[in-house]
Amino acid sequence: MSVYLDHAATTPMLPEAVSAFTEALVRTGNPSSLHTSGRAARRTVEEARERLAGALGARPSEVVLTAGGTEADNLAVKGLFWARRAQEPARRRILVSAVEHHAVLDPAFWMAEHAGAEIVLLPVDSDGVLRVDALAEELEAHGDAAALLSVMWANNEVGALQPLAEVVALARRHGVPVHADAVQAVGQAPVDFAASGLDALTVSGHKVGGPMGVGALLARRGLDLTPVLHGGGQERGVRSGTLDTPSVAAFAVAVETAVGALPATAPRIAALRDRLIADVRRVVPDAVLRGPADPALRLPANAHFTFPGCEGDSLLYLLDSAGVECSTGSACQAGVPQPSHVLLAMGAGEDEARGALRFTLGHTSTPADVEALIAVLPGAVERAHAAGLSGRHRAGAR
Ligand SMILES: Cc1ncc(COP(=O)(O)O)c(C=O)c1O
Repeated sequence: MSVYLDHAATTPMLPEAVSAFTEALVRTGNPSSLHTSGRAARRTVEEARERLAGALGARPSEVVLTAGGTEADNLAVKGLFWARRAQEPARRRILVSAVEHHAVLDPAFWMAEHAGAEIVLLPVDSDGVLRVDALAEELEAHGDAAALLSVMWANNEVGALQPLAEVVALARRHGVPVHADAVQAVGQAPVDFAASGLDALTVSGHKVGGPMGVGALLARRGLDLTPVLHGGGQERGVRSGTLDTPSVAAFAVAVETAVGALPATAPRIAALRDRLIADVRRVVPDAVLRGPADPALRLPANAHFTFPGCEGDSLLYLLDSAGVECSTGSACQAGVPQPSHVLLAMGAGEDEARGALRFTLGHTSTPADVEALIAVLPGAVERAHAAGLSGRHRAGAR
């Protein structure tokens, strides 16, 4: 059995979610059908919607179910842009932090190429935290041209929590709707949609112990959102498509369970993360922790390092063959590792950024996982160091 230190990529399903999933899986019924089976499926979906809303501080009517975080982010960026621009054609600017996930960045760039948007990439500091002063300046100068602002709740690579209260307060003064991708935050940090003042928020099932391929966009009541998917008019016409009843049921149970367990799990995981960080630094003294050094300013489950002179991908494969699964934190393009846009935005050089490795914990993590990592890490670093940065060509063949 491998040691799994990649919970930010996906985390094992919670037993409660598996039960809800399998129970719903053996029942027939389209939630849009009017007969008895259809109405039973509809009940399952609506109960799930209520549970999701309850766990996330939203109203049930604010939950737009989607097929995952990527779809919810696309709906937020495209839907908000089209709707806001239709009301006020001068609003063409899409403001996004430079460290957003590709599920936000890529739709924003797509809108610039195909829909007349202008992208404004907002800078972050060396910890990966949005520079609120830069946002304030941008809004002061061009607030009346902004269609939307998207700043994630917490960064998926380096775990930095973002100053959303300040972001929302600033945006509100300029009438700019704010979306936050909270895919990594839900289940790790308290997330209350109503209290946040956000207009829209993304959540994904498989990051909190639910199934893959299901998620939601919480959209404030009265928010104008142009649909991206057209068809049967489900989800109040905002997101057509037959709802995946088993996934929705399991997703809601997972969110409710993870959020309910948060007061107990967050301190346990944070203590394990602190130990992992201390032990990595002890056995590899030149490892550089990325993201906020203050544990309270980063996700409790995230530890992200760069290893000077090493290729992150080489380290990943060496650790994998030693039975430890982790991530470089950033995506490959066509099999070729790219330096992370997040680390580059934080001011890291390309070579530094290529030595990145992300360890993320979750509900199944134990001290034995950290011990197993620490036992094999120095050897892996030594070998990756010997291979140097040329290791990338070998990794690129994958
Ligand atoms: C911050 C963030 N946003 C969006 C996504 C995409 O979510 P999904 O895998 O549900 O499409 C991820 C997944 O890696 C993520 O970490």
